Parts: sequence; structure tokens; C-alpha cells
Amino acid sequence: MNVIGISAFFHESACCLLRDGRLVAAAEEERFSRLKHDPRLPAAAFRWCLRQGGIGIADVDCVAYYESPVKKVARQLWAGIPENAPSDLAWLDPGRPERAIREGLGYAGRLLTFEHHLSHAASAFFFSGLPEAAVLTVDGVGEWATTTYGRARGTSIEPFEEVEFPHSLGLLYSTLTAYLGFEVNDGEYKVMGLAPYGEPRYLDEMRRLVASGPAGQFRLDLQYFDFVRGRRMYSQALPRLFGEPPRRREEEITAFHRDVARSLQAVLEEILLEKVHYLHDRTGLADLCMAGGVALNVVANGRILREGPFARLFVQPAAGDSGGCLGAAALACVELTGRRPTTGTLRHVYLGPRWNAAEIAGLLAAAGIAAQDFRGRESALLEAVVDRLAAGQVVGWFHGAMELGPRALGARSLLADPRDSGMRDRLNRLVKKREAFRPFAPSVLASHAREHFALDHLSPFMVETCRVVSPLALPAVTHVDGSARPQTVEPADAPRFAALLESFRRRTGCPMLVNTSFNVRGEPIVCSPVDALCCMGVSGIDCLVLEDFLIERAMVPGNWAELLPAWRERAPSGFARQTSAISEDLYTFV
Ligand SMILES: [Fe+2]
Repeated sequence: MNVIGISAFFHESACCLLRDGRLVAAAEEERFSRLKHDPRLPAAAFRWCLRQGGIGIADVDCVAYYESPVKKVARQLWAGIPENAPSDLAWLDPGRPERAIREGLGYAGRLLTFEHHLSHAASAFFFSGLPEAAVLTVDGVGEWATTTYGRARGTSIEPFEEVEFPHSLGLLYSTLTAYLGFEVNDGEYKVMGLAPYGEPRYLDEMRRLVASGPAGQFRLDLQYFDFVRGRRMYSQALPRLFGEPPRRREEEITAFHRDVARSLQAVLEEILLEKVHYLHDRTGLADLCMAGGVALNVVANGRILREGPFARLFVQPAAGDSGGCLGAAALACVELTGRRPTTGTLRHVYLGPRWNAAEIAGLLAAAGIAAQDFRGRESALLEAVVDRLAAGQVVGWFHGAMELGPRALGARSLLADPRDSGMRDRLNRLVKKREAFRPFAPSVLASHAREHFALDHLSPFMVETCRVVSPLALPAVTHVDGSARPQTVEPADAPRFAALLESFRRRTGCPMLVNTSFNVRGEPIVCSPVDALCCMGVSGIDCLVLEDFLIERAMVPGNWAELLPAWRERAPSGFARQTSAISEDLYTFV
């Protein structure tokens, strides 16, 4: 049975294929369209899922959609028409998502919809491998719910309480993100990264914005917020409360901004910890599954695991709305077969497109790029890469199937030496072009993780922070508060990446590398070899590994930019081009 899951039309649309309950393919649309957080119908991701599954559209038994359009529109109508809404009001038609799926994808078969937070819950529980668990979902908003509490066992997920819009921890965080001058739905990571630089001087003010209530409830004081009508996130009362005007984008970040970020993070953690205790008391269960955008707050996750009552925590790596497609597809499997989809814990998210060495050889030949060919000589390739990493170079690492979710985990990564005290600045200056305060994460051999991090379990998805306890100085991956967000890498899940880490360890004694996503600021993570070459062209990456080929910066022709259109045409799998056939009217629905 082939079930397609779709999440779309808010931000980060994505598509996945479950075959007989097994996850075969999953990817975000932004990787194909090259539009960051692309919210449109995931037509390219859908086509790719079919291709990966070796099926046609007639072989799809069900499309599962990740939220209820009727309930969502009801909530939008309750909130009132925002001033910046399109004038035709077609966005209030609850039939649009189904029409877009049917007409945009050409799909005429069975279509099931599931509620937004149930999709989040399923995306965590059904992929956790746990026989039973408490489930917490926390995000900005789905239909009405912004937070749900539930218990799950076998094929069943039973939410027993929810917090409804406009009372939302996700929207609280996004509102302060906007006030601090960062982009909503993108800058929340930056606020989290800024927080440890500040002091929690604004806890009283923060507790006026949000107050914990009985059971699982909490309330926002709506006089400080304006997102209900969608004009902007905060009202005039919010700057008055803090005594400072909002920060404009690119304006200097001061101690005030750092202190507000720290206070926000502290209050978020305080409420989440309290509610996690409540959930544990209600369910009596040992393990916790989490999803929803707030579950991407890795600092809070670390505290929930260390200080909370649950023995184990599984966070869906694509915890934001892109991962909703996984949950919807899993729920459809249960509904149609009566069986729980998947078995075992999700061990990796290498679920996207891959390119083989022959395809890349063809591309390089077509583009006239000289590369060192290491086909059939993996250990020589790894040694050559270690030479460069040990010499302080930044290496673009493109190998295997692309990751699902916001983190690069060794398939589309930029790698560097974590012991290099200048590496954070160098990466920021030459490649990432992002705020200097944001930390980079390490990927560490799982077998050596405990020597360097206060971790007593595997953490393959970078979903939690922990203390650095390494005998090595690791300035490039240690945050100002002495924490890091490691990925533990096992040879069984990522053989070549683990072998690279092992080669680096043998050479240097350090079993880890800086691992940051392979993209420049404002761009989605690279998907295809062409994207990787383009990224190299516009950044300061020293060398690029495309599967078995090593390309030095000097090998890329000086006129690479002029060659780009030709490269794109000759790309072995130019998925992005396929989307242009879809009518814009059907394709765009935010
Ligand atoms: Fe969500």
C-alpha cells in the first residue's frame, strides 16, 4: 500500500511516501524550488517521492493531508480578516487544499485529512519505536490547538487536553522574535542562540506576557499581542512593557536584546518543564514523544530530558510543519490497515534524493570542471578530505540521500575542524554569512561521544543540547554557556560519514567535526550537485566533495556563473524545473 503524506500551505511544505508502513522517501519542497520555507503545494517533492518509490500516480492508494482545512478556516474567520490578506478572500475557501492536490498533482484517488496536532503527535510517536508514550505537541498554531497532551499506545494516539489559539507558546516566541528584529518562522533559532549571552533580567515582564494555568493550560495577556488580526505580532503595549522600541533588522544587538532573549528562553523552559511534569502525572508513562515547532527548541529539550520526569525523550527530527506529512501518512496507514506503520525507532532521515557517481561524472564533464576521481578508492578520498580539514579548510560534503528536516546530518553538510579557534568566524565570514553569536554544532562518532559530551544516550538528530566535558578545547562548537548540540554518528546509519570522522580521529585524536548545513544565508540547504556547485561559487568553501569526486576551489572555472544556465539544463535530475508546469493559481495558497 502506497500512502503519500502532504503538509503544505503555511510554511515548509513537504511530501513523503510510506510503502506498506515503511518510510521510503520524504523531502521539503524548498529543496527543489530553492525558495526557503516554500509553503506551496509540494509538487516537486511529490514527483520525487513517486520516482523514488518507482510508482506512478495510479499506484497511490491514499493521499493524507496534515490538517483540517475546515477547522483552520473557522479559526481564521474567528480571528477576523487580516488587513494584509489577499482581497479575493479565496484563501478562506476550505476546499482549496483538496483542489490544489487534485488539480495540481493530478490525483483522483482517496484523500484523508487529519488534524494538525494529531499529525504532529503521530510524526513523533509512530516513528519513535516506543510501544507506548506520553505525547506533547507544541507549536504556533494548527487549526485551533497550539499545544496538546496525549497518551499513545500501539496504533492509538489519544489527546486528552489542548490549549487553544490565541494562547500559544510558539506565537509567544515568534512575537518576541519579531520584537528582537528577527524574521518570524525563521529567526527563532537566533533568539535561542542569543539567549545564553544575556541575563534573565526581564522575567517579571515575561511572566506578564504568559501565565501558567491549571492542568496543561497557560494564557497570553492579549493586550501585548496583535497576531490575532495578523497585522503584526506585537501591540504597542509590548515595547512599553519592556521600555525599549523594537529592534530593526540588522540594527546592533545590545545587552537589552540579549537579556530579553534570555528571559524569554527561561520562561519558555519553566512552563514546558511544569507542563511535562503535569503530563507525566496524568499518564504515568515512562517515555515522552514531542513534535511541533517548539520541539525544535533544543535547549528546552535538553532540560526536559535532564530535569524532567521522563526516562526517554523522542523528538521528531522534522518537528516543524514539514514533518506533519509523516504523521498524516502514518495515521492514514493505521486507518486503512489497522496496523501501526513502521517498526523500530527512526534511525536516520536520509530520505531525500541522491545522485550516483556516474551522474556526477557526467555533470562535471558537461560543465568542464576538473575533479579528482576517487571512484573505488574511498579510503584515499577520506584521507584527502582529512588533509584539508586538518589544514583548516572548510569542506562541502555531499554524500548519499539528502536529509529531511532543518538539520544537515552528514549528507549535505559543511565540515571543519572544531578545535580551530578561528573557525567560527571564518565559517561565518566566508560561508554562512550569519550572525556571529550563533553556535555551530558538532558531529561526533557515537562510540566516542561520552568522552566529550554529557550524553548518556544516542542523539542522531541534533535535537537537544548538553554540556561539553571534552578534554579537548572545542571553541568552534562550544556555546558561550559551555553547551553544544551534538549529532552522534553510527557507522550503521551513515557509513561514509562515520568513516570520515574515524579517519579524522586517527589523524588528530579528535573524533568530531563542525557540521553545519550546506547553504549560504537565506538559501535552502543544497539538494542537487548543481546546487552544491552554485553554493561553492557564491561562498568561500575551500573544496567540495561530490560523492567520489573532490573539487578544489581553483578547479571551478572563473566564469562559473555564466555556465550556470547550461549546468542547470544538463543536470541529471532537474526536479525544480518540473514545478513550472503547475499553474501558479493552484500552486500558491498561503
Ligand atoms: Fe505545526
